[in-house]
Amino acid sequence: MFHQYKTFIENGDLVVIYLNYDSMLTVRVATDGSLNNKYGTFRHNDMIGQKYGSKIQSQYGKGFVYLLHPTPALWTQVVPHRTQILYLPDISFISSYLDLRPGKVVIESGTGSGSFSHSIARTIAPTGHLHTFEYHEIRAEKARKEFVEHNLTDIVTIEHRDVLANGFGVTGIADAVFLDLPAPWDAVASAKEALRRDTVGRICSFSPCIEQVQRTALALDEHGFADIRMYECLVRDYEIRSLPLPSIDEAIDGQKVNFKLNKNDRKKRKLESGANSLTSQEDGNSEVMLSKPVDNARGHTSYLTFAILAPAAAS
Ligand SMILES: C[S@@+](CC[C@H](N)C(=O)[O-])C[C@H]1O[C@@H](n2cnc3c(N)ncnc32)[C@H](O)[C@@H]1O
Repeated sequence: MFHQYKTFIENGDLVVIYLNYDSMLTVRVATDGSLNNKYGTFRHNDMIGQKYGSKIQSQYGKGFVYLLHPTPALWTQVVPHRTQILYLPDISFISSYLDLRPGKVVIESGTGSGSFSHSIARTIAPTGHLHTFEYHEIRAEKARKEFVEHNLTDIVTIEHRDVLANGFGVTGIADAVFLDLPAPWDAVASAKEALRRDTVGRICSFSPCIEQVQRTALALDEHGFADIRMYECLVRDYEIRSLPLPSIDEAIDGQKVNFKLNKNDRKKRKLESGANSLTSQEDGNSEVMLSKPVDNARGHTSYLTFAILAPAAAS
């Protein structure tokens, strides 16, 4: 389902329920089932047969929700957090720099909550394969269950394994390796072992601390990797606001416009201060749309260290 699309919702489908701009959840649609939340009761029977993307009303018309087709991008927003996860800015950057596309073979560790795994599976489908390794047994089992429920087993294989102690256990099969581990430098030798020898292999390590980057870069260099680079993806959200446009008089007088006051208050203040009569702009509805960065935009998540392994250095 995560790498194939269909038009209509059927009994047994996983549906992403969009409640509002910062709230979504998933339901497995089942005949006679229902979903209850502050917007009302939504019967699964009303969802079955609807087109993905439809808006449905609650049972008594109190509220509504949208029914969305699951995608890796939506899954990243609703996945139960069993660990820290990767978000789309990093995922898309990593996918591009690892040159991932259909048919590629990728190795990943640790699997964590499977946020990255879902996107990679969609990118390399239908002919590629993701081998993902997780040493925390319960996490590995939960991720395995999700891969089965999401019909990803032909693309993803998960193994419960400590890759730092035991390596990846594969030789010369991978186009790319992705590490999200506390000590990635200890996985560099087995990453090299796992990469193909007949073409350029690519590696990326995701680490929150610069000291981890330094140790990983040294290990990559020692093992013959080249073109070692580090990037940081920062996201900056913008908010759009409509603000009153200052009048010509205000602009000429250099008066500071108090945007917090509404139009009538500004009019009153201006008359009280003996300022010029209102301009036609102020009599009308003169407003301007502005955008500005949001103060609390999410910043650093981790550093991304990339390198390549040329065929000559692989053996
Ligand atoms: C931050 S999480 C990965 C999150 C994942 N990238 C995602 O987007 O959901 C790191 C994972 O690495 C696993 N891990 C740590 N050391 C490991 C090792 N030696 N072998 C395999 N997995 C390991 C941890 O159990 C944890 O689940």
